Amino acid sequence: MRQVCIPRYGPPEVLRLEEVPEPALQAGTVRIAVRASGVNFADLLARQGLYPDCPKPPVVVGYEVAGTVEAVAPDVTGFRVGQRVVALTRFGGYAEKVVVPAAQVFPLPSSLDFPTAAALPVNYLTAYVLVHLCGHLQPGERVLIHNAGGGVGLAAVQLCRLQQAEIYGTASAGKHEFLRQQGVEHLIDYRREDVPAAIRRLTQGRGLDLVLDPLGGRSFAQSYRLLAPLGRLVLFGMSRLSGGPRRRLLSVAWQLLRLPRFHPLRLMQDNRAVIGVHLGHLWEAQQRLRPALETLLAWAAEGRLRPVIAQTFPLAEAAAAHRYLHERRNLGKVVLTVAGSEAQASGAG
Ligand SMILES: NC(=O)c1ccc[n+]([C@@H]2O[C@H](COP(=O)([O-])OP(=O)(O)OC[C@H]3O[C@@H](n4cnc5c(N)ncnc54)[C@H](OP(=O)(O)O)[C@@H]3O)[C@@H](O)[C@H]2O)c1
Repeated sequence: MRQVCIPRYGPPEVLRLEEVPEPALQAGTVRIAVRASGVNFADLLARQGLYPDCPKPPVVVGYEVAGTVEAVAPDVTGFRVGQRVVALTRFGGYAEKVVVPAAQVFPLPSSLDFPTAAALPVNYLTAYVLVHLCGHLQPGERVLIHNAGGGVGLAAVQLCRLQQAEIYGTASAGKHEFLRQQGVEHLIDYRREDVPAAIRRLTQGRGLDLVLDPLGGRSFAQSYRLLAPLGRLVLFGMSRLSGGPRRRLLSVAWQLLRLPRFHPLRLMQDNRAVIGVHLGHLWEAQQRLRPALETLLAWAAEGRLRPVIAQTFPLAEAAAAHRYLHERRNLGKVVLTVAGSEAQASGAG
């Protein structure tokens, strides 16, 4: 079978398509013939050596796949060969076949195609944890979603809209019209405008009830200052560590230096909460994640949630997929597809 490997840290072109033996089934697992595999920003950081969780090269990244069950270990019940499924993989997803613990595999509703299914697990689970489990967003509350046009961003927009919140979003200007249609009422071009000034103007100084911030650097401190009393700031990423396709260590150090320290006394005096989320470190909390993903899959099957696919790329073109994300061209999710899949490039973004 073929897989895409990171042989060493570097720009997108280091990604290498290689032929390897298919992975062996182990107790408690199923083997999936992959038809679509989700690309996440963390994969870009991993390729640049900026993602501490990722095993050292050579490594195959990829957190989520959709496909059909090819084999089932004798001790596993509830799955059959040929069944359409979606799975959380935690590395290894950029491949034609993966072996996954059965606890991380979910039946795929018939109304969802493979690319749409592969777009769902990481983005929507993350958004669900941010908005509901940690953010406790209530109807009518004001929420700011940074990177609203990205994979997690659009998932969060859709969940916040279902929750009838008032949505503020930051994104590159070219993404604003689409985001407005998705239900973001107030849009800020964060690369050109002063975000704190814009929020103060738009909220008439009242501030925000919830901020979802994956940027890092000085953005975390700015986001904190935008909170209203009883406001929550959820930190979940450090996109600013990646200044482009090539790693720039000085810029990384500068972003790390600009991270704020939150003092407990200050938090009490301000009546504000700062919360961190890392889905990769919730892997063991399957009893929380599994029902959440089942709910999200059901909502997607009913059409209440509509994952947005920015672009699909054949597995062999993973480097182009990474470059597309670095260049901020995506509106929604980037997905790799394996030949014979239902995948069709939609070309949004
Ligand atoms: N903690 C968790 O569990 C968790 C889980 C998933 C994702 N995340 C984090 O959430 C963030 C979004 O992830 P995603 O997978 O949904 O990706 P994504 O948002 O689809 O990533 C690409 C978009 O991010 C924006 N961006 C901001 N800074 C960027 C930079 N330095 N380089 C390139 N693009 C940049 C761009 O949108 P604009 O055009 O609007 O700038 C770009 O289109 C990442 O920081 C990721 O690490 C965290």
